[in-house]
Amino acid sequence: MKVAINPAQGLTGEVRVPGDKSISHRGIMLGAISQGRTRLRNFLKGQDCITTAEAFESMGIETRTEDGDLIICGKGLHGLLPPSKAIYAGNSGTTARLISGILAGQSFTSTLDGDESLRKRPMRRIILPLEKMGAQIGAFNEDFLPLNIRANRTGVLKGIDYRLPVASAQVKSAIILAALYAEGKTKIRQNAISRDHTEIMLKQLGGLVKSSGMTLTIEPPDQLYGQDIDVPGDISSAAYLITAAMLTGKSQLLIKNVGTNPTRTGILDVYEKMGATISTNPKKQDGGEPMADILIKSSDLKGTTIGGDIIPRLIDEIPIIALAATQAHGTTIIRDAQELKVKESNRIDTVVNMLNSFGADITATHDGMVIKGPTPLSGAAIYSSMDHRIALTCAVAGLIAEGQTTILDSQWVDISYPGFFETIKKLRS
Ligand code: S3P
Repeated sequence: MKVAINPAQGLTGEVRVPGDKSISHRGIMLGAISQGRTRLRNFLKGQDCITTAEAFESMGIETRTEDGDLIICGKGLHGLLPPSKAIYAGNSGTTARLISGILAGQSFTSTLDGDESLRKRPMRRIILPLEKMGAQIGAFNEDFLPLNIRANRTGVLKGIDYRLPVASAQVKSAIILAALYAEGKTKIRQNAISRDHTEIMLKQLGGLVKSSGMTLTIEPPDQLYGQDIDVPGDISSAAYLITAAMLTGKSQLLIKNVGTNPTRTGILDVYEKMGATISTNPKKQDGGEPMADILIKSSDLKGTTIGGDIIPRLIDEIPIIALAATQAHGTTIIRDAQELKVKESNRIDTVVNMLNSFGADITATHDGMVIKGPTPLSGAAIYSSMDHRIALTCAVAGLIAEGQTTILDSQWVDISYPGFFETIKKLRS
């Protein structure tokens, strides 16, 4: 589906962004294996999370919407039923990698598949630790979907002590979920901190996770118990509005109830360093995930260097940060971000190619990119490479570029931000 975008003078008003994608996925998964009802308020109705809900429906879990909330009728740790066909994870790496941890603990065999983009993404990173725990997993070329996850015949996996080779929340979460079905304790040692939504929600549902420095210890619980969970607005989605407001001349935008878990707020730290006019007003929070209202005004930016431990805290925002850097004075260097190569597309290549098409001065490096600014952009016609974050970044580029921009396959936006174009229409001037 084609969408045309014209330049905007500014973004003004007050808005909420859709629920956090990572937290919505976890709510469905953990809700399904908890006893009793879980209510997810502000659940993300994006395609990736719908895919997760359908996966659990195929294993006998009832889900329904009630007053806009998602209700998951959990059946406890051992209540899933064998699916009648392959579980389809669509475009979603989070669905595929996290569900593998749960499937490894089941007493039935399952097959897991995905779309063309997901079939190219590495699964060895979860297969390895799950096999150490006793799972038996077959994979195409030992690394790719479809996976065949064999029944856990002995009835129990065993706990492991594992150092994560990559700072990946998906790998960490797959191990945590398998650890719920394992005999004994599991220890996960991290070199850098990644998003900790699984740990937070597991505790809310009665799970036993302790963190000490960079090490997590998980003990298998007797049961988990369904709860009401507030899903904050997704900071990764807010990132597009924050950036659009910063880069357009006459903006004053308030985004309400955005999730501000410190494992996700790297983009705010970077924009502050670049000189952005952004302020956050934290909300009172009783346990669970922190949130804040974020106020953004048009800003003059300067280039910066981004690398090291901050990368996992902003990995999904690099495409939109790269766009911001094209408008900043000086050079921006993004390094230590080789993980970008295994996202929904190879995001070093797709970001560099896309922004070059708009006339930016950006070059790829082995682990990131170098951007020189400020450069005026001119409208382009772009395919998003089956990658929602490329489509969304292109839409924001269209707001600041001269002339018209066309996204030739704009439907990918619905993976994480359904309603994005309508929101922009309301806020633009
Ligand atoms: C996610 C973790 C990150 C992130 C992805 C969502 C999650 O991936 O890029 O969009 O929900 O756990 P990695 O764990 O591969 O870094």
